[in-house]
Amino acid sequence: MRTIAELNQHCGIPGIVSVVEGNGHLPKIRITSRAASGEIYLHGAHVTSWQPAGAKEVLFLSPHSLYQDGVAIRGGVPICFPWFGNKADDPQAPAHGFVRTKTWHLESVEHKRDTVTVRMFTESSKSTKKWWPSDFRLSYRASFGAELALEAIVTNTGDEPLSFEEALHAYYRVGDVTKASVAGLDGVQYLDKTDGFREKPQADEVVITGETDRVYLNTEGKLYLSDPVLQRRTMVIKENSRNTVVWNPWSEKAAAMKDLGAEVWKSMLCLEVANVGNNAVTLAPGEQHAMQARVKLG
Ligand code: BG6
Repeated sequence: MRTIAELNQHCGIPGIVSVVEGNGHLPKIRITSRAASGEIYLHGAHVTSWQPAGAKEVLFLSPHSLYQDGVAIRGGVPICFPWFGNKADDPQAPAHGFVRTKTWHLESVEHKRDTVTVRMFTESSKSTKKWWPSDFRLSYRASFGAELALEAIVTNTGDEPLSFEEALHAYYRVGDVTKASVAGLDGVQYLDKTDGFREKPQADEVVITGETDRVYLNTEGKLYLSDPVLQRRTMVIKENSRNTVVWNPWSEKAAAMKDLGAEVWKSMLCLEVANVGNNAVTLAPGEQHAMQARVKLG
C-alpha cells in the first residue's frame, strides 16, 4: 500500500484535497472546496463526511466506530457488495459482503467547478475468492460538491455470468429520528425484516416508532427525509436502483452494538440505495452496471 506522502503526491490538490491519517491510522482523503467539505477513507472507499457550504454535516458517523482492517466503519456510506445482509449459503461469510472492510485502490482525484471527484476501485483476488468465486471489478465515484453524487460501477471481468447484490448504505444524521419522516415510498410494498420478512404495504410517510428494518421493493422513486429538529430536508435521487432500505436499530439493538451504543441511535437513519433479493443484478461477461445515489439538501 502507498504511504500517505505518496498518496498526497499522486492526488493532493493544494488547499483543496489532502490525504491525511484518519482514525485507526487509516488514510483518508480530506476535501475542502468552495462548495463543500468531505472525507473518504481508502478503507471500504467509505465516505464519512459531506458538508455542503453553509450547512451542517449531512452524514452520521458513530463516535464509537472501529477503524481497522476487516471491520466496517459505522456510519457514513458503507458499500455492500456482492451480497446484502448475510450471505444466503454461508453464515460464516461477512455481513454485507467484503468490500466495505478492505483497502481500495485510489485511482484519481479531480477538481472541477467546485466539485471534487474521487475515484477508487477494488477487484477480485485470491482473498475475495475465499468467499465468492467470481471475477469482478468494482469502481466507485464519489463527487463532493453542492450535491453528493455516489456511483458504484460493477464490471464482469470473468467468463461466466455474474450475479450480485449491492447497496450504498448511507447513514444520515438527524436531530431526533423519532421526529423525522421519509416521503417517497407511499404505496410501495416492503419486506419487514423485523417480522420474518413479511411483505407489507407502506401507507403515507415512513416514521420511526420502533426497530425499523425494511427492504422496499421495485421502487426507483426519490426519497425526501424531513428533519424538523435540524430544520432541513434531504433529497436522495436514485439511478439503476430497484430497492430502498430503511434501517434504524432502535434502543436495545443499538445498545448491544459496541460500535454504536445506547446514546446515539436517535441521531441516525439509514436510507440505502440498493439492488437486492429479486432485484439482484446479473451481468454477462464484459458487461457493466452502474448504480447511483445523489444527495441534496433542500
Ligand atoms: C441494514 C440491514 O442494511 O444494515 C440490517 O437491513 C442490518 O438488517 C444493518 O442490521 C446493519 O448491518 P451491519 O452489518 O453494518 O451491522
